[in-house]
Amino acid sequence: MTPVLKMSEVNVAFTSGWGRRRARLQAMKNVTLEVAAGQTLGVVGESGSGKSTTGSVALGLRRPDSGTAEVLGRPAAERGRALRGRVQAVLQHPHWSLNPRRRVGVSVREPLAVAERGLSREEQRERVVRMLEQVGLDAATAERYPHELSGGQRQRVSVARALITEPGFIVFDEAVSALDVSVQLQILELIRELQAAQGFGALFISHDLGAVQRVADTIAVMYRGEVLESTSTEEFFTEPAHEYSRRLLAAL
Ligand SMILES: Nc1ncnc2c1ncn2[C@@H]1O[C@H](COP(=O)(O)OP(=O)(O)OP(=O)(O)O)[C@@H](O)[C@H]1O
Ligand SMILES: [Mg+2]
Repeated sequence: MTPVLKMSEVNVAFTSGWGRRRARLQAMKNVTLEVAAGQTLGVVGESGSGKSTTGSVALGLRRPDSGTAEVLGRPAAERGRALRGRVQAVLQHPHWSLNPRRRVGVSVREPLAVAERGLSREEQRERVVRMLEQVGLDAATAERYPHELSGGQRQRVSVARALITEPGFIVFDEAVSALDVSVQLQILELIRELQAAQGFGALFISHDLGAVQRVADTIAVMYRGEVLESTSTEEFFTEPAHEYSRRLLAAL
């Protein structure tokens, strides 16, 4: 089966500052990764190691300077109809993806309305209600505004918004990091359940090894833009190959 995400030898550099202070920072160095259909690849590493940059390349938001990134068999940066609704993201702060002035139902419906133009209003409404129920929210939530919800409920709404188009690939970037531990566990459980039901492949970016352990099938460890180690979750937690991985685990 074709992987849902295939990155080979991806390099991304940023330049910052001006004049003599101008500096070039290599945020991704020859990154090679694969996510199989229905599987989750956890990306771990300290702050600034290049995790979110990897996520934005996978989402097609940033083009690699060199190397290739393919999502669902197509170049990630291709934003055509073929990938519309097929690739989604869940980010750390729901208020970035949920418009505070829009009712929840409108935000959840939006990607569906864009991806499947043929659906009637009534069909869209039904899909929204079904999706809200799938993420453990009742239908009446559609009428509420984001500020009327708890952080956990808002993140459930973000998950509903991402999943309503039945994407083949999702990037979760620190998707549970802002939540209380007990709420985190519920959301991680929910992601697992929905993945089993829908079969999407996922990139699960987090600096939290505990969260990654719960959802990831495989793990890539990043350090200063490089993937140091890429292995099964089980192996990573029992016998990490790299010295840096052992230090990450020891800090847990
Ligand atoms: N738009 C940008 N312009 C300049 N430098 C950037 C930009 N985005 C990221 N960087 C730099 O690239 C490096 C990798 O950043 P990235 O956001 O990918 O790290 P991260 O692993 O997601 O970190 P965190 O755990 O803090 O979210 C960092 O040094 C960061 O400062
Ligand atoms: Mg990040």
